[in-house]
Amino acid sequence: MIDLRSDTVTKPSPAMREAMARAEVGDDVYGEDPTVNLLQNEVAALLGKEAALFVPSGTMANQIGIWAHTRPGDEVLVSQGAHCMIFESGAGAALSGVQFRTVGNPNGMVTAAEVDAAIHPDNPHYPPTQLVALENTHNRGGGRIAPQREIEAIAEVTRRRGIALHLDGARLWNVHAATKTPLPILTKPFDTVSVCLSKGLGAPVGSMLAGPRALISRAVRRRKMLGGGMRQAGVLAAAGRHAIAHNLSRLEGDHVNARSFATNIAQATGVELELGSVETNIVIWELATSVPFDAATFVARAKEKGLLLNAMGARKLRVVTHFDVSAADCKRAAEIAVAILNAA
Ligand SMILES: Cc1ncc(COP(=O)(O)O)c(C=O)c1O
Repeated sequence: MIDLRSDTVTKPSPAMREAMARAEVGDDVYGEDPTVNLLQNEVAALLGKEAALFVPSGTMANQIGIWAHTRPGDEVLVSQGAHCMIFESGAGAALSGVQFRTVGNPNGMVTAAEVDAAIHPDNPHYPPTQLVALENTHNRGGGRIAPQREIEAIAEVTRRRGIALHLDGARLWNVHAATKTPLPILTKPFDTVSVCLSKGLGAPVGSMLAGPRALISRAVRRRKMLGGGMRQAGVLAAAGRHAIAHNLSRLEGDHVNARSFATNIAQATGVELELGSVETNIVIWELATSVPFDAATFVARAKEKGLLLNAMGARKLRVVTHFDVSAADCKRAAEIAVAILNAA
């Protein structure tokens, strides 16, 4: 099986497993796990933030970030298709009591003018808009990169309007790999940033929430409340440290594979795909109306031929490249996709 459902499917390499086995550990709920502490300090420095907290998932990192900036009844502005609104099990409403409102275009891109216009005035009819949460790269937007200048302009708006700015940076590493922009420049406009170790970087578990020291101290308590206080978590943090040290520099290979997959399927009849939209490791395309079956059928037929991918809508499909697939796998995956369309 060639598994292109997500970059979350990677399995730890032998070298990563060895780093995990060798990890020095302690009880992290007491703050005594040396490997977790190292990872937290390293990631804070890497992202140019005062402090960082190791959490089990990107969902927890985002949801603690949202909670830290808001009170129940507040409004959070997010991009269309934002992961923290759509794919986190309703946590924003259930755990922080916030309501989401979307701004921007269907690719998940948002402009400063749109944010400025969307923030509610101080009027008792409206929920207080307290937070803007952006996503970079944008998952449902097909791995699109948000223009840094626009992000900086959005930060000027949020500062001027006195509200907070959070980044769902699950795949911020891919932005860095694709644009070569230093990570602290990418993160500077944001009050808090979540990053995932378990996506393109290939660690089995773990995400980080980075931000001001006082906020991260509050986040430690919230993590405990959510059941995310882990004990000898150094075995997991060691995988994260290994991932950053060895795999960050390899992400560009995933981007090359995604572009080659996209180029190979773009010529097939029935594929609606703008090649320019493929900026990182995600390819999203539509089945043209001439194709006599839907995305779910495409996924089922692909599985029979040895390719796993995800449907993102009635006629929308997504593949995500990662370390556990080679250039040859991606070429073969495109051949399978084209064969399914040609048989239509
Ligand atoms: C953009 C984005 N944010 C957050 C997450 C959540 O990460 P996790 O699955 O670790 O909760 C994901 C997961 O796919 C994601 O794609």
